[in-house]
Amino acid sequence: MSGRAEGAWIFGYGSLIWRPDIPFREKRVAHVRGWTRRFWQGSHDHRGLPHAPGRVVTLVPEAGARCGGMAYFVEAAAMGETWDELDYREKNGYRREIVRLEFREGAAEGAVYVAPVGNHAFLGPAPFPEMAAQILRSAGPSGANIDYLRRLAGALRRLEIDDPHVFEVERHVEDLARRDAPGCGAEHGTTGGDHVR
Ligand code: SIN
Repeated sequence: MSGRAEGAWIFGYGSLIWRPDIPFREKRVAHVRGWTRRFWQGSHDHRGLPHAPGRVVTLVPEAGARCGGMAYFVEAAAMGETWDELDYREKNGYRREIVRLEFREGAAEGAVYVAPVGNHAFLGPAPFPEMAAQILRSAGPSGANIDYLRRLAGALRRLEIDDPHVFEVERHVEDLARRDAPGCGAEHGTTGGDHVR
């Protein structure tokens, strides 16, 4: 397996699924055990602003849970620039952890960016309607928060990864968006920017 060659696996479970933007040699669907994906992390630099954070995903430890995402193998020669790029992109409360990645065949160690409970940008749980309203109204340098949610939910569906939390957030946001629809489109426009995620 490629994990034995010189280099490292990096596991993406949020924007890294649909916009890796790293020089990977290979990608594979992977799962990590003992973690669950939650829209509990504040985004002040990508999908929200310092005074009005959006909501993005982090991994939260949960016994018996299993989280699906995409793992990328990066060769040793490209690791330096890859860490620089990702450390900058995930700077708002995330830190690297080493986890065991389970592939359809085999397993390997890999790195993952986790925003731990209690980090400076951690928002924690909230009722679904509250999280949905925040996602619907938030936007930042990387674009509208709702686009992050839609891309994530779409990517999970294409990969056939079930995630009841993400799909429940999506259901609430889309219901709210439909209710808000007339005249509200401009509020949720994208702004573009570097290091989009
Ligand atoms: C990830 O995608 O693995 C980290 C969280 C994010 O960038 O959305």
